[in-house]
Amino acid sequence: MAIYNIFIMTVAILLQVYSRPTTAAHFVLVHGSGHGAWCWYKLAALLEQAGQNVTAIDLAYSGRNEIPLISVRTIDGYQEPLFTYLECLSPQDKVILVGHSYGGYAISSAMERFPAKLTGAVFVSAFMVGPNLTFNQLGASFNPGASFFNDSKYIGDPPRIVLFGPNYLATKLYQNSPPQDLKLANYSVRTTQFFYGELTNRQLLVTNERYGSVRRAYVIGGMDMAIPPDSQRLFIASNPPEIVREIPGADHMVMLSTPQEFCANLLEIAQVFTGSR
Ligand SMILES: *[C@@H]1O[C@H](CO)[C@@H](O)[C@H](O)[C@H]1NC(C)=O
Ligand SMILES: *[C@@H]1O[C@H](CO)[C@@H](O)[C@H](O)[C@H]1NC(C)=O
Ligand SMILES: *[C@@H]1O[C@H](CO)[C@@H](O)[C@H](O)[C@H]1NC(C)=O
Ligand SMILES: *[C@@H]1O[C@H](CO)[C@@H](O)[C@H](O)[C@H]1NC(C)=O
Repeated sequence: MAIYNIFIMTVAILLQVYSRPTTAAHFVLVHGSGHGAWCWYKLAALLEQAGQNVTAIDLAYSGRNEIPLISVRTIDGYQEPLFTYLECLSPQDKVILVGHSYGGYAISSAMERFPAKLTGAVFVSAFMVGPNLTFNQLGASFNPGASFFNDSKYIGDPPRIVLFGPNYLATKLYQNSPPQDLKLANYSVRTTQFFYGELTNRQLLVTNERYGSVRRAYVIGGMDMAIPPDSQRLFIASNPPEIVREIPGADHMVMLSTPQEFCANLLEIAQVFTGSR
């Protein structure tokens, strides 16, 4: 009888240990230029089905954010909704930032401002500044190309106020994504700003002590036509993250063209960051 009881207790303990869900992470998703929280709809649903906590941010004048574009004059102002969100997190909450495309700048700044609130940061087909790669150095190597100027609406040389055109969206951003997602973009993208100059460079400076203390991963969109994989590898080479993954079939919109693969990668990266593997 005693042996039977010990057996039952052992089984109960083992069940408890092995059925414990791997620690849920809280992912905070930051969109790229012209986009909004809406572009994460597939990935957010997948992460939540996997038991994770997800928050998708709308930066200034993006998605449902109602601040007018004209009232935001600096990149700090554009990124402010992310900073406010992180400021208001309760002190025991730690999150994993995921920054896409131009949203890579937002999560870099957030890493510099709030390193203690972060479990890690994941750049996906994103611009990534670092202590060894300033905004000015990085921006100098980037040109959106002829197909951008072909049908996008823009003001400035280089372009400062921008609305992506349908041909640019179809051929450079969404070429591997389902037509429904391209349609969603056609209905949802908004006019955005690209920032330049010394003030922008200064606002995006990051240090080894703060930014460098946050664990970092990079996910390359293998068929990205907007920020080509070779450019992404240059960001990585001058500022190597702890983890680098590549999704071969992904276009620029990694979260829409290859959501399952991207979700699986994020779950594995989160396990490394939280030390649960
Ligand atoms: C998700 O995170 C937010 C902010 O930390 C928290 O308020 C909320 O309770 C979390 N939700 C779940 C389901 O853990
Ligand atoms: C310019 O746009 C038109 C249609 O809007 C398209 O047919 C053409 O291929 C584009 N050219 C380039 C270089 O992208
Ligand atoms: C949406 O598609 C229509 C028809 O092709 C086009 O005129 C319009 O400029 C597109 N809007 C955006 C934001 O791509
Ligand atoms: C800084 O970046 C350059 C390439 O831009 C790279 O060759 C160099 O190794 C980097 N230095 C450090 C300390 O990471």
